[in-house]
Amino acid sequence: MFTATTTAPVNIACIKYWGKRDTKLILPTNSSLSVTLDQDHLRSTTTSRADPTFTKDRLWLNGVEEEIKPVGRMATCIAEMKRLRKELVEKDSSAPPLSTYFVHIASFNNFPTAAGLASSASGFAALTASLAALYELPSAPTELSLIARQGSGSACRSLLGGFVAWNAGTLDSGLDSHAVQIAPETHWPDIHALICVVSDTKKGTSSTSGMQRTVETSPLLQHRIKHVVPQRMQDISAAILAKDFDRFAEITMADSNQFHAVCLDTSPPIFYMNDVSRAIIAVIEEYNRVGLLPENGGKRKAAYTYDAGPNAVIYAPAAHIKEIISMIVHFFPQQETFNDPFGLFGAAGVTAALAP
Ligand code: ADP
Ligand code: DP6
Ligand code: CO
Repeated sequence: MFTATTTAPVNIACIKYWGKRDTKLILPTNSSLSVTLDQDHLRSTTTSRADPTFTKDRLWLNGVEEEIKPVGRMATCIAEMKRLRKELVEKDSSAPPLSTYFVHIASFNNFPTAAGLASSASGFAALTASLAALYELPSAPTELSLIARQGSGSACRSLLGGFVAWNAGTLDSGLDSHAVQIAPETHWPDIHALICVVSDTKKGTSSTSGMQRTVETSPLLQHRIKHVVPQRMQDISAAILAKDFDRFAEITMADSNQFHAVCLDTSPPIFYMNDVSRAIIAVIEEYNRVGLLPENGGKRKAAYTYDAGPNAVIYAPAAHIKEIISMIVHFFPQQETFNDPFGLFGAAGVTAALAP
């Protein structure tokens, strides 16, 4: 029995990926940029095993077996990783022929699955990384990101730490559609992420089907792709390199809001945020309005962003985190009880993860 266990953290996008130009290879309609959170908080842990006695590839997610559909994303990722192992064995015939064995894969998320907290990102990144470890592949993270991308687009960014861009690329092969690090986690350790779990239930519309519907029906998406995202990618990269939190926050919030506007522009419309999500926006906007007053320094102190779900992620410099937590807990006491994996804030409905 050959076995390997690996973890991968979630990443939360500041410039959102939403839309595919190729649904099979998972090639996006626009580039995106995210922050990879640290491994100690929201993460997927995946164990892969290869054994000559196994009779088919099998996968368990959070203890429940999931079907691996013949030409689905999971099957594609496994096949791609087996191909890399085969190439390695062709170069070194003493290496065991692991690609000819079936695999059993077990993965656990320590946070809500399919609730808009990027479980598909950490999940497919951990899957790719664990097969890379099992097969002892020398592949660089950017090369592996090409394979994780074919499991879930956002997963390509979780293979790198810190501030990460996923370049949309232009090739039909997808070979230039991979993740690159804009800056390592050590570049700007002062930025923290606060995860506010508004609801831990599975979303009604998966990211995959939601974005497909948007591509088919939203005129606003076309404007976003052509006229908004390219400039924002440049501007936010510059803000990160300059450690300019005010600008980073301005762009991050604008992009979250445009992403949700695009969801609303979809037919039928998709609503990922709920009343609590919108109330958190109002609190942060007010907090920033006060921060922007000249006598208070004239700068934004926090940035909210929402993926395809109601849960908020708040980015902020370390100096403001305590204040933001007490503000959120004050306005949203006992919003909902949930299983807080970190035990930080009990049932307050808020939990924190440091980032990057
Ligand atoms: P999220 O907002 O959590 O990323 P998505 O709709 O994008 O939600 O994707 C959720 C799907 O991702 C799950 O239904 C499952 O198929 C897949 N997924 C989540 N976690 C894992 C994991 N650890 N390993 C493999 N696949 C996973
Ligand atoms: C709103 O990567 O989950 O979180 O590629 O179909 O698996 P698939 O979709 P997924 O979409 C993520 C959308 C988002 C924005 C982002 O992470 O960039
Ligand atoms: Co996802």
